[in-house]
Order: sequence, then structure tokens, then C-alpha cells
Amino acid sequence: MLKLLISPSSFGILLLLFIPVFLLSSIQIVYGDEDYEAQLLTSAKHDTDWLISIRRKIHENPELRFQEHNTSALIRNQLQKLGISYTYPLARTGFVAQIGTGSPPIVALRADMDALPLQELVEWEHKSKRDGVMHGCGHDAHTTMLLGAAKLLNQRKDHLKGTVRLIFQPAEEGGAGASVMIEEGALGGAEAIFGMHVHSSLPTGSIATLSGPMMAATCFFAARIEGKGGHAAEPHNSVDPVLAASSTVLALQQLISRELDPLQSQVLSVTYVRAGEALNVIPSYVELRGTLRSLTTEGLQHLQRRVKEVVEGQAAVHRCKGSVDMMEKEFPPYPATINDETLNRHVNKVGSLLLGAERVKGSNQVMAGEDFAFYQQKIPGVMFGIGIHNEDIGSIHPPHSPYFFLDEDALPIGAALHTALAELYLNQHQTSSTV
Ligand code: NI
Repeated sequence: MLKLLISPSSFGILLLLFIPVFLLSSIQIVYGDEDYEAQLLTSAKHDTDWLISIRRKIHENPELRFQEHNTSALIRNQLQKLGISYTYPLARTGFVAQIGTGSPPIVALRADMDALPLQELVEWEHKSKRDGVMHGCGHDAHTTMLLGAAKLLNQRKDHLKGTVRLIFQPAEEGGAGASVMIEEGALGGAEAIFGMHVHSSLPTGSIATLSGPMMAATCFFAARIEGKGGHAAEPHNSVDPVLAASSTVLALQQLISRELDPLQSQVLSVTYVRAGEALNVIPSYVELRGTLRSLTTEGLQHLQRRVKEVVEGQAAVHRCKGSVDMMEKEFPPYPATINDETLNRHVNKVGSLLLGAERVKGSNQVMAGEDFAFYQQKIPGVMFGIGIHNEDIGSIHPPHSPYFFLDEDALPIGAALHTALAELYLNQHQTSSTV
């Protein structure tokens, strides 16, 4: 229990003085080997320059979903240099590296590689070289952190008491890359999975996590309301889809305000309305598009059904014909991201040991989606936030902002966290999984 009385910095001084490792209880061997934690952070920080150079290469050359060919090749090339084997391709550009005994227990770590259709507005040396494409969600950092973990785990491969699968996936942004990776065997017998996402309001060196629903189930929809076009001076000779669409938008909001349990969380946003072009012509149809979100997957499915009914019903009231396309081919619906309670305790413990308990925060729930949820439908998992907030360097903007800029000091921290989460998970699951 001595470790609770000394700060990480004072421990670093002790380490420098070559104080031997203290005898630890059996629980502490799993979770609290100070020597291990200090060494891991030191090794990760040793790799900082390498990690930054990789992350900047990816940042300068962002690639959209399912097109991450160069990013994938860059990371695979690094793995080859490190002597780490991998399986490629999965889901077109994705791959899975494997380190350890090759036997159970098997734990998975995941990173996403895709960028956003967004013009970077940050003027800096390593700005995106591709107009209209930007790593504005930090996936360049996620990919780099997992590569860093691959190196650290490989250095420790003879100590691993099982197998770590490192999943580098495409198309988190709307393409459900995780779902395709799973179909093509990415999980490979893994019994637990961890993922992290950069968090712009959390200071660098901290993490935030929670048990249970963390992020929303999401989908998009496109509705079409068909009427009969005509001269605007003669509405009685036309069937006006604009009025029908207007009523529909209002009626859709009542699904949230009047049908949903006020203690539940759902969002329905109509974000796109397109109708005619001439000022004196009633158009023949109107298009509405938007997004639905719910903190439960069942809630999203219910909302999808009701949106269809409301659009069709409201259109019919106005003598129009309404139809809804849930755009599932283009944008597969994402399930809710539900963090496993036991694994979340593991994240809390490992985070506390590596970073200090005061740097492990409770996370807020958010209505953004995350395709990590597909893995969690198969096996228990935790997605948590890793801090990148640093006002001194302008790392203050949220993901998906054209001004998004991340603190690269988070890279070695993420690499060490991934490593410890996997290695300590394997240590702790010896008896249950190998018997
Ligand atoms: Ni993201």
C-alpha cells in the first residue's frame, strides 16, 4: 500500500535512486507493480519523437473512409520494421496485428484510421495537404497510439500471458468500418476490447470513462414528400408538398417532446430541407434529411419506426405521398456504445496507476455515435476519453471543428495506456480463460 503514499513524481526520483521494488500483495502484482508502470511510461516517453513524426505524416495525408490505403501502408511498414506480424487486408484497408503467445486469453485494442471531409483551418507546418480532408477527429492520434502500443507490447512479448490483437480499422466516420472488420474476423477469439478517443475538454494526462451507455445509437434518414407542382397563383390546382413538409418537421419534434420518457435521451434533428427553385412555382416534391440519436439501440429502432409513420401520415393528411429511406447502405446505423462495468473498473484502476487517481474522471454521456459499439455487441468492451486539452498550444477546439488541434504529448500516454490495459488484463484473466 506504500504506493498510495507517494506521488508519481516522487516515485520517479526513488526509481532513479535504484530503490528496489517492494514486495507486493497478489492484487498489487496484477494492478500495482510500480516498477512496471514507471518503466512503461518511461519507455513510451522515449518513443515520443517517433510517435509525433508518424502522427504528423498521417495528419498531412488524411484519407476518407475505406480509402485509408497510405495510412494503412505506413503503419504496416512500421510493424514490419518492428518484426510484428499482421493480417491484411480486412475491410479493404484495415488490418490486425497480433502479439503474444497466440493462445487465450485474447484481448483486443482498437484504433480508427479515417479522416473527415473537412477543410483544415489551422495554419501550421503539418497542416493537411489534401484540400477538404482533415484529421479533425483525432484518428491520426488513435492510430499512432496503437502503433506505439504495438512497439511496447512487442518489447514485452515474452512476459505476455496471452495474446493481444491490435485492430486498425477503416471508416469509423459513418462507414461502420468496425462492423465490416468483425464480419471479416478481426476479433479472432478476443474476449474483451478497449478503445480510446481523444477528448478536447479533458487536460492532457487525464482520462474520462464511465460504465453503461456512453455514446448514442445513431442513424440518418432521408424523407421525400411528393405532391403535385403548379403555378403558385393557383394552389387549388396543385398539391403543395411544402406545407406538408412543414407540418412534418413540426410533427417529428413531437416524437421527442410528447412520446419519449422525459428521463430518457433521444435527439431528432432535421438538418436538410430542399424544395423548389422558382418563386412562383409550387414544387412537386420536398426532400427532408436529418439524424436520429438514442442512448439505447432499442430506442433508436423505435424512433426509426415512428419517423416513418409520421412522415407517411403527415404527407397523407396533406394529400401527398411520403416515404422514408434510413440510408442504411450509405450510413449504417450505429448501436449505442455501452461500456462494460467490470472492464470499466479495469480502465479506472489501470488509469489511476499509470496517471494518478486524480487524473481519472467520470465521463459525460454524449449523443455522438461511435462504431466501437459494434465490437461491444459481440464482446464486453470499454471506450473511454483520453485528454488532449492544452490551452498553451491551442488544443482547445472540439473534434469535427476545422480548428481542431491536438496536444501530441497525449501520444505516448495513449500508447502506455493501451499496453497496460492489455497486459494487465491478460495477467488478471489467467485462471478464468486458460482453464
Ligand atoms: Ni472520432
